[in-house]
Amino acid sequence: TGRVAILISGGGSNMLALVDSMTGDHPARPVLVAANDPRAGGLTKAAHRGIPTAAVDHRPFKGDRAGFEAALSEHLDAAAPDILCLAGFMRVLTPEFVARWSGRILNIHPSLLPKYKGLHTHARALEAGDTHHGCTVHEVTPALDDGPILGQARLAIAPGDTSETLAARVLTLEHRLYPAVLRRFAAGDRSRIDLD
Ligand code: GAR
Repeated sequence: TGRVAILISGGGSNMLALVDSMTGDHPARPVLVAANDPRAGGLTKAAHRGIPTAAVDHRPFKGDRAGFEAALSEHLDAAAPDILCLAGFMRVLTPEFVARWSGRILNIHPSLLPKYKGLHTHARALEAGDTHHGCTVHEVTPALDDGPILGQARLAIAPGDTSETLAARVLTLEHRLYPAVLRRFAAGDRSRIDLD
């Protein structure tokens, strides 16, 4: 059975969707939820489900990303995951960290990549007058929000949508897409999934 560690920064709704999917005949199980913010709401939710948690506050490390990652890696190495899922993890990882997890690290991003890498994706889709928007699960490579796409889910932007209403609708799609991709990926299947 595959071992999955999940990195979060906030509420962790995607983390919970992943955790709750890993039951029964699923090829993987959650072994660690780790956050870069000790106040991340997802930590208590994970602990409530009996999953080991770790908090490594990035702030004392100031600009020392490698130092932060070394501290995080102590927890990861102890948990020995096969797959690392970034789920609302808002820190940029160094190329060295990404290389260590090459081929085993996934991320979910709230846009139809390659559109709108980075932040404020919903506002940018609205600003551009796009007719459709959505989310992407991709393998993590050193370049931000790049890397092979494993799945996308799309929705139509409605008249009157705001970045808040769009974010909420995209988030519900994220909760379907990420578990679907992880289930395949953990079974060794990297074929692309498209949902709408
Ligand atoms: C999600 O919308 C996720 O796609 C996004 O943050 C949110 C986290 O929500 N991730 C990024 O923007 C990554 N740059 P969650 O904590 O409830 O899963």
